[in-house]
Amino acid sequence: MQHYLQFTDFTASEYAYLFERAALIKKKFKAYEKHQPLTDHTLVMIFEKASTRTRISFQAGMYQLGGSVVHLTTADSQLGRAEPIEDSARVISRMVDLVMIRTFEQSKLECFAKHSRVPVINGLTNEFHPCQILADIFTYIEHRGPIQGKTVAWVGDGNNMANTWLQAAKLLDFKVNVSTPSGYEVNEKVAVSPEGISAKHYESYSDPMAACQGADLVTTDVWTSMGYEAENEVRKKAFAAWRVNADMMSVANPDALFMHCLPAHRGEEVDADIIDGPQSVVWEEAENRLHVQKALMEYLLLGRQS
Ligand code: CP
Ligand code: NVA
Repeated sequence: MQHYLQFTDFTASEYAYLFERAALIKKKFKAYEKHQPLTDHTLVMIFEKASTRTRISFQAGMYQLGGSVVHLTTADSQLGRAEPIEDSARVISRMVDLVMIRTFEQSKLECFAKHSRVPVINGLTNEFHPCQILADIFTYIEHRGPIQGKTVAWVGDGNNMANTWLQAAKLLDFKVNVSTPSGYEVNEKVAVSPEGISAKHYESYSDPMAACQGADLVTTDVWTSMGYEAENEVRKKAFAAWRVNADMMSVANPDALFMHCLPAHRGEEVDADIIDGPQSVVWEEAENRLHVQKALMEYLLLGRQS
């Protein structure tokens, strides 16, 4: 049994399979062709934080694969009344085939997985967001071909998305140029511990323009992630120069793409003319959550199909 708790849980060869499979599943979806290998399978989604894309893509995805879904939140379950995670995992995983969790600390997700009889998927934690990076890389490949050897510029917070980009760069052999305000750096111990990451795959810049120089993909995220709302006002001041704008895009490669996991705040982490401009692929990126996660759920439950 395999879990998907962070990007490093799969090998490069498993990712190659998943990207191919997602392309096939997407093609069938676009042709209105049924693809229902998960009939009689049930997914539980547990949300301790808000969501639009993750909820819809997992729920619609599981239905489209022929299965069913149960949706739980902290407020409407015993999770919010301090039932131990271990007990919740033991009970829930006796009744369903697959679990997706969006929570705060990665350690909570890991604790659940440790006591689960069925595969567990990370639907976002404070530390990682692997399903999003899966969709982002799939989107890059769809538009520009292999990501190996390419450069991704990360402009903004050293958050769950940035950590996951570092893991992906190391595993799939591309480079991430990261620029964060001082005090909001990526924590390499969290992202790529214990082996670390080489300069071939990761470079840190104080100037966001320098990070974007020659990039094939420029990407960013909200200045304040879920769970950090109390820091909002301080962050607004600290992040003012980390807004992706036309100047940054102009030093990237001429065919560079722009991505954002969404939800976005125009005028904060990105200018409207960039996210709504010709280099932006954010809507395809969001849609691809559906297709890659269908491939992911099928793989975790049934293994390789081709
Ligand atoms: N990108 C993403 O995970 O969006 P939601 O918070 O809407 O799920
Ligand atoms: N970094 C953001 C991503 C939201 C999808 C957050 O954790 O809130």
